[in-house]
Amino acid sequence: MTAIHVALLGYGTVGKGVYRTIEKHQERLKTILGKEVKIVAILVKELEKHQWVNNEVLFTDNYTDIINLPKLDVVIDAIVGVEPGFSYLRQAINRGCHVITANKEMFAHHGTELLSLAKEKNVSLGFEATVAGGIPIIQTLKKLLNANKVDKVEGILNGTSNFILTKMREENLSFEDALKLAQEYGYAEADPANDIEGVDAFYKAVILSEVIFGEQPEWEQTITQGIGTLTLQQIKLFESLGLRFKHVASLQKSNTEIQCTVRPVLVTNSHPLYQVEEVQNAINIEADIVGNISLQGPGAGMFPTASAIVEDLIHIGDKQLASSPEDSLFFEKETKENIWALH
Ligand code: HSE
Repeated sequence: MTAIHVALLGYGTVGKGVYRTIEKHQERLKTILGKEVKIVAILVKELEKHQWVNNEVLFTDNYTDIINLPKLDVVIDAIVGVEPGFSYLRQAINRGCHVITANKEMFAHHGTELLSLAKEKNVSLGFEATVAGGIPIIQTLKKLLNANKVDKVEGILNGTSNFILTKMREENLSFEDALKLAQEYGYAEADPANDIEGVDAFYKAVILSEVIFGEQPEWEQTITQGIGTLTLQQIKLFESLGLRFKHVASLQKSNTEIQCTVRPVLVTNSHPLYQVEEVQNAINIEADIVGNISLQGPGAGMFPTASAIVEDLIHIGDKQLASSPEDSLFFEKETKENIWALH
C-alpha cells in the first residue's frame, strides 16, 4: 500500500490538531482512502521553541526543505496572515500538490487566484476550514447551489467574539478576562485584534460571498464593527430586558450589489441566534427552492478546525489520490460499501 505524503505548514493550535487527528484516526483514514496518510514534514516559525521527537517527520523552519521533498502529495496550510501562506501555496500548486488551507485572511485576499491556478494545474484546493470552524458550510453551500439560488446568509462567524460576549454576560467577566480565556482555549488568533474588531468575520463573509455569488462585496463599502466597545453594563442591562448582543455577519445580493455587514446586533429570545453561545458559530441560509437552512456547531478550536481540514483531505483523496489500479476508486468503493454494511 502506498501512502499519501502530507506536509503541514504551522504547528500552532490548528497544526497540532491536524497532526493529532491524523495520527489518532490513521486506521479510519486507511480504510476510507485505501492508503496510509503520512505527515512527512512540519514547518514551524521558530525551531528552537519546539521539541520534536519523531524522526520520521522532517521538522523545519525552511519551506524550501519541504517544497523540494521528493515525495509530496498534499500541503496543508495552518499558518496565519496573507504572506508567506499565499506564496507557499502557490509554489505547492505549481509543483502539482493538492492544497488545503485554514487561512481565511490569505484566502479572502487570494482565494480566486489560487483556485484558478489549482484548476490550471489540475489539483484540488480545499478551504472548508476557513469559515466557521467545524461546520461544513462550504460543502453544504456547494451542494445547495447545485439546485438553489441562495439569496442571503446571516450568522455568527467568529467563535472568539461569541465566547467573549457569553462569558461577560453569564459570568460577569471583564472583556479582558473573557478574551484571555478565549486565548487559553486556543479560540482567538495569536493577535486577537481581527477577532474582536470583526475583521476575521469579514474575511469569512468574503469567502462565503465568492462561493455563493461568485464575487466579493466591495471591501470599502462593507460595514465592519467589532465587539470592543460593548461594556459589561450594557450587556447586563439588555439581558435584563430579554435581549442579547450577538456579533452577526450578513451577506445579501440585491440587484447587482452585494451588501455585507459585520456588527453587534441585539436579538430577542425568539431569534435563532439568541441561544447560540460560547464558541459556537451558526449560519442561516435562505435559498429559493429549499427555504431556510440553519447550521450550528463549534466555530473555532483545535479539533473542530482539524475536522474540517481532514474532511478536505478525504474529499481530495476520494477524487484524486488513488493512482494505481489496486488503489482505484473501485477498491475504495468496495471498502466503503463494507463500512456502510457495518452501520
Ligand atoms: N479566531 C477564529 C474564531 C478561529 O474565533 O472564530 C476560527 O476561524
